[in-house]
Amino acid sequence: MAIIEFPKDMKWGAATASYQIEGAAFEDGREASIWDTFCRIPGKVRDGDNGDIACDSYHRYEEDIKIMKELGIDTYRFSVAWPRIFPKGRGQVNQAGVDFYHRFVDALLENGIEPMCTLYHWDLPQALQDEGGWGNRSTIDAFVEYSEFMFKEFSGKIKNWITLNEPWCVSFLSNFIGEHAPGFKDLQLATDVSHHLLVAHGRSVKAFRALGVDGQIGYAPNVTWKEPFSDKQEDIDACKREVAWFVEWFMDPVFKGSYPQFMVDWFADKGVKMNIQDGDLEDISQPIDFMGINYYTGNVARYKEDNGLFSSEDLDMNYDRTDIGWPIYPEGFYKVLCYITELYGEVPIYITENGSCYNDEPVDGRVKDDRRISYLKLHLAALKRSMDSGVNIKGYLTWSLLDNFEWAFGYSMRFGIVHVNYRTLERTPKDSYYWYKQTLANGFYEL
Ligand code: BGC
Repeated sequence: MAIIEFPKDMKWGAATASYQIEGAAFEDGREASIWDTFCRIPGKVRDGDNGDIACDSYHRYEEDIKIMKELGIDTYRFSVAWPRIFPKGRGQVNQAGVDFYHRFVDALLENGIEPMCTLYHWDLPQALQDEGGWGNRSTIDAFVEYSEFMFKEFSGKIKNWITLNEPWCVSFLSNFIGEHAPGFKDLQLATDVSHHLLVAHGRSVKAFRALGVDGQIGYAPNVTWKEPFSDKQEDIDACKREVAWFVEWFMDPVFKGSYPQFMVDWFADKGVKMNIQDGDLEDISQPIDFMGINYYTGNVARYKEDNGLFSSEDLDMNYDRTDIGWPIYPEGFYKVLCYITELYGEVPIYITENGSCYNDEPVDGRVKDDRRISYLKLHLAALKRSMDSGVNIKGYLTWSLLDNFEWAFGYSMRFGIVHVNYRTLERTPKDSYYWYKQTLANGFYEL
């Protein structure tokens, strides 16, 4: 039995995102986002689900904050729905939307919970998509306008800012693989989007510094780890590309001011051109205060000629899987954190998402999600290993506080430590919630 113990000053939290929990999709002046549109295209989201009601947190946030307070977290990561603030993406501000986030942030602060605000967690105003969305450089300007407005409006209240959540999902998953809104399958477009996102991030950081906002700012890429099946060079190289798609592609420009050349070459071979303008890389590489890292899964992989974008294949090594089908691979969490530190130095890192999907239901008012507890124990142990190896971890936020709208899976996949009954909207803390509470209170747990 090993005791896993964390430093006293480690921050603990939980995370959610606007479209996944808020509901009230068309209330108080909010207009459509690309997810409202996408959900209405038959076949895109399981069971035709949408975020119209979700967890109804727009109306039930006080109850949610009670649940957080009871849990004992220091930090709550949420995102702002851009179309509540600027229903058309830019221009006219919607005061009712701004007021909602003031009420919400004030309530967090009154309860001693530090807000960590993500500006973009995927609900792009549809009006901007109608002009080409992230594929159009004018969306960069709209994002900077929106983020500047938020910095000024919430200065002094919100001290932790995240520009973008998971730029890989926003670009490649949404515009190349086509699983997320807006659902395109175009590698050139997806690559352009990835670059525009990074420029938007950098310019937003610049605006943050120019305004002299009190607080810290970063972004939150999602990462994975692929362990080469053998030590053959071709297996090693295939895994290197797969990892770099998440790590180097989205981090080299920020920390080094350049794209990884081996990836640029690989993409060029697929006919992709880099559309970079003068000054872009300088904008992107603004110093940031911390990085958010989201990690869920990894795998063992090997080279397979012409298989997929990177000539590689994942192997089924018979690892246990969560209910969404993702292999449980805590070793990958440890390895990717060490890898990032090796590449970019001891940048301060918050784990802004880590968690698991298990669809356990309440029985007599109790949700026995032992498998989630086990997932958390294994990943927190991997995290601690990374800290002992020199990774500069400042905090850990689990995904998610609540079961919620799981994008293309609709409501069929549950990641919460609190169960939500989507008919009654009743919240039931799961066993994992009580385990997490105890762990935060103690600062350690038994593996
Ligand atoms: C996203 C969340 C999502 C979670 C589980 C991340 O990709 O940021 O919005 O619910 O993973 O899929």
